[in-house]
Amino acid sequence: MENKNNMDKRRISPQAARMQEVLDEERRVRERMSKVKHKIIVMSGKGGVGKSTVAANLAVAMSKLGSRVGILDSDIHGPSIPKIMGVEGMRPSGGPTGIYPILSGYGVRVISIDLFLENSEDPVIWRGPLKMSAIRQFLSDVDWGELDYLFIDLPPGTGDEPLSVMQLLPNMDGAVIVTAPSDLSKHVVKKAINMSIKMNIPVIGVIENMSGFVCPKCGEKYDLLGSGVGKEMAEEMNVRFLGQIPIDPEISKNSDKGVSFLIENPNSESSKIFMEIAQKIKSIVENKNGSEK
Ligand SMILES: Nc1ncnc2c1ncn2[C@@H]1O[C@H](COP(=O)(O)OP(=O)(O)OP(=O)(O)O)[C@@H](O)[C@H]1O
Ligand SMILES: [Mg+2]
Repeated sequence: MENKNNMDKRRISPQAARMQEVLDEERRVRERMSKVKHKIIVMSGKGGVGKSTVAANLAVAMSKLGSRVGILDSDIHGPSIPKIMGVEGMRPSGGPTGIYPILSGYGVRVISIDLFLENSEDPVIWRGPLKMSAIRQFLSDVDWGELDYLFIDLPPGTGDEPLSVMQLLPNMDGAVIVTAPSDLSKHVVKKAINMSIKMNIPVIGVIENMSGFVCPKCGEKYDLLGSGVGKEMAEEMNVRFLGQIPIDPEISKNSDKGVSFLIENPNSESSKIFMEIAQKIKSIVENKNGSEK
């Protein structure tokens, strides 16, 4: 007969069982992510500077360049990617290989906490560990299939979600940093660059969004919020500058309607800038230049 001590040793505590689950999830993250060639986070220390807009448009731009693209909305409290990508209210289905992302009309695969909520206006009131667990599950349980690019839209700040994504994603290509053209934005966004550096995530480059406004009637350019801060910051931080996207009412109008700005306005100046920036990112990550200038 087995002695009592041996039987006790074999009994797994709830903590050990949870730890085993986490290790299994992390193994699955590595397996899933090995099918994704390039993983790029879009971040900024500052809120409302256009991270989600930039992430969604870069995803569509990359798809237009012929890549297989996914976008993961890792903003747990303020998810906005489903609305911008026109898939709000849709439900991801599950199968033997995991949860399938929603395929948007522009060929981009989309996952967000918003797609799992009964009512998209319900708030998600979670603390750090639950948020990390949700992000781990998005990376481990979603069957993205083979992708060339996975863009990850981060919430503002340098808190739980960016930290979870940075810790969990193996072999990330780097971070695209978005700033508005104000000194206040520059001050806060530098924190995001420093976080990437501390976490050993290469900085792919800085985008200055909401940079000037071209009057559609007279064609004159007005620097409503300023201009040039992104380039200045990139120089100060010794990272690349990727480009300036102007304030364009069509960008926000299309986001609100859930239609792709790039598909609706392919010949506009702002669309051309998005395509140029996507092309730059493509050549940077595909040539593996890391964060060098
Ligand atoms: N270049 C632009 N021209 C016009 N409107 C823009 C531009 N970029 C973003 N917007 C608008 O600004 C608002 C904020 O953008 P968005 O939600 O992408 O910012 P965010 O940085 O992701 O915000 P959060 O910090 O809440 O995640 C949206 O209404 C969006 O449509
Ligand atoms: Mg956002």
